[in-house]
Amino acid sequence: MAFFVLILVAYLIGSIPTGYLFTKAILNVDIRDYGSGNVGATNVARKLGFKMGAAVALIDIFKGFLPVMIGRNILYDSPEYLIFIIGFFAIIGHDWSVFLKFDGGKGVATTFGVILGLNFISFLILAIIWLSIAFTIKIVSLASIIGIGSLPISIWFLTGSGIETFMAFLLFLFVLYTHRENIKRLLKGEEKPISLGSSKEK
Ligand code: G3P
Repeated sequence: MAFFVLILVAYLIGSIPTGYLFTKAILNVDIRDYGSGNVGATNVARKLGFKMGAAVALIDIFKGFLPVMIGRNILYDSPEYLIFIIGFFAIIGHDWSVFLKFDGGKGVATTFGVILGLNFISFLILAIIWLSIAFTIKIVSLASIIGIGSLPISIWFLTGSGIETFMAFLLFLFVLYTHRENIKRLLKGEEKPISLGSSKEK
């Protein structure tokens, strides 16, 4: 019973549309009408600048981290993959938010938060890959796809758990799906680099 309540709580926490709320509150616009149309931190950075994008990223990371921590505290003697499933639902909430009529983001920051709560070394590998690509090539979608692509590998080597590796692989499939338009642009060489300074796109 507690497990199903935790899944629901995780989904609701994940569903909080941070990027949408920030742009609505600050500019009274719908972030989905700008840039890539995504409600995530990268697109908020395009519209509101780097600092606001970073603030949205931190909150979205916390949306993944918090349900995992709550789950771990309540289900302290349960197998790790159950905690993983709880985190999974926070990502589903972010990607298909009940508050946005099941529209949502691409799940990257929330995945960061879930992995931070589950396996710190795996999180560090993900963060190093993401930061290196995002700050050199400056194509955030590529950083996200390759970074999250590292998860099944790192989780396998660090835990040896088939179930957790499978779930990490599912996270990678989620990210491929939510980045399908980015992937088309990447393949055509049309995905634009982002300015990670303070500039805003008009
Ligand atoms: O976190 C989402 C990022 O990987 C891509 O965002 O706005 O460039 O589609 P965006």
